[in-house]
Amino acid sequence: MANYVHGFDPIEQLRLKEQAEFLAPMVYKEVDFGGCKNLLEVGSGVGAQTRILLEKFPALQITCVDSSAEQLAQARINLASFGDRVRFVEQDGCVLDLGACSISDSAINKAEGASSTRRSPICD
Ligand SMILES: C[S@@+](CC[C@H](N)C(=O)[O-])C[C@H]1O[C@@H](n2cnc3c(N)ncnc32)[C@H](O)[C@@H]1O
Repeated sequence: MANYVHGFDPIEQLRLKEQAEFLAPMVYKEVDFGGCKNLLEVGSGVGAQTRILLEKFPALQITCVDSSAEQLAQARINLASFGDRVRFVEQDGCVLDLGACSISDSAINKAEGASSTRRSPICD
C-alpha cells in the first residue's frame, strides 16, 4: 500500500499515537464495548486506537487488520504488553478473508462493508 496518503514513517506513526490519545476523551465518550468479547479493527495502523480500547475494556480481544506490514510491525511493538488479547492480520480490508476465526460471520460481513473510506471497529 505504497500510495497511502500519510505514509508510514516514524514521525507519522508517532502522530497517529498522539492524535489517538488527544481525541480519545471525545471519540470514546459514548462508546461502550463492555458487552463485546471480540472486536475487529480494520485499518488499525500502529495500534493507537487499539491500545486505548484494550485499556478501556479489559475483557476485549482485538483483531487488528492493516494492509501495511510496516504499520503492523510497529503495532506489534506498541501492543506487546497485551499478549494474546490482540492479533494481527496483514490484509486489504476491502477484500477481507479471515478464514476460520472466533469472530462471527455477521461481524465479518460488516467488516466487508467497511470500505477504505470508513474504517471502524466491529465487535460481537
Ligand atoms: C490514518 S491510519 C489510522 C490508524 C488507526 N485507526 C488510528 O486511528 O490510529 C489508517 C490505516 O489504514 C490502513 N489502510 C488503508 N487502507 C486500507 C485497506 N484497504 N485495508 C487495510 N488497511 C488499510 C493504512 O495502512 C493505515 O495504517
